[in-house]
Amino acid sequence: MLKTIHETSEWLQARMPFTIHTAIILGTGLGELVHELTDVLEIPYESIPNFPISTVEGHSGILRFGKLGGKPVMVMQGRFHYYEGYAMQQVTFPVRVMKALGIQTLFVSNAAGGMNPAFQVGDLMMITDHINLFPEHPLRGKNETALGPRFPDMSEAYSKRLQALASNIAASHNIPLQKGIYIGTSGPTFETPAEYKYFRIIGGDAVGMSTVPEVIVARHGGMEVFAISVITDLGVEGQVLEVSHEEVQQAALLAQPNMTRIMRDLINQA
Ligand code: HPA
Repeated sequence: MLKTIHETSEWLQARMPFTIHTAIILGTGLGELVHELTDVLEIPYESIPNFPISTVEGHSGILRFGKLGGKPVMVMQGRFHYYEGYAMQQVTFPVRVMKALGIQTLFVSNAAGGMNPAFQVGDLMMITDHINLFPEHPLRGKNETALGPRFPDMSEAYSKRLQALASNIAASHNIPLQKGIYIGTSGPTFETPAEYKYFRIIGGDAVGMSTVPEVIVARHGGMEVFAISVITDLGVEGQVLEVSHEEVQQAALLAQPNMTRIMRDLINQA
């Protein structure tokens, strides 16, 4: 794995227009942030050596180097989901590469189903912690000490420092910002009413099919992490409606401007 990571990071390093310490992974329907980038260099995933090959659509995503409000960033639009059939090592490979490129802080967004009865569709939820319910762990297997410790601490997976900054930014723009615990599951099915209820009982505020693997690997590598969910549908008892991918995308689109504003300011202050 070390050799592949090295190969890919060398390839990208040769194309990186400036030193970058910040990376962003954009979730479903949350690509708007890329329009705010300047000095952009776009690299389709297909052309990046060792990047997972998309099995689903024609193309899987675009990596961009650019500046957000003047700050150098690396942005992944499109991620690899476990439900697509990738091994956890593939899902999290880009995060390994980020680390090798010198990324110190990772910002993640996703679409999620809300289970906290105080939530509404379109809300933004800052992730304060997670519960990992994926059936495979991204760190299972031989540990490469060069990448991180065998038994990584997870007492502060989501940076309290960045959460405090984000709360202030949201308040200063009058953007309501919920907080809560994200449950990561494999999908691709949305939850049954009984599953939503169960996830609520065990402490979840929102549920989704991504983020947790990437965050685990980022923490393994010692990166500081901030993550935010857009609540695209509700799994609140008695309010569970039929949900489709299109509805999730639509709800994410509506919440984008506020999410983008928080992310942009946060990245500049971080
Ligand atoms: N469940 C799981 N993943 C999701 C959901 C949901 O309700 N909404 C968006 N992603």
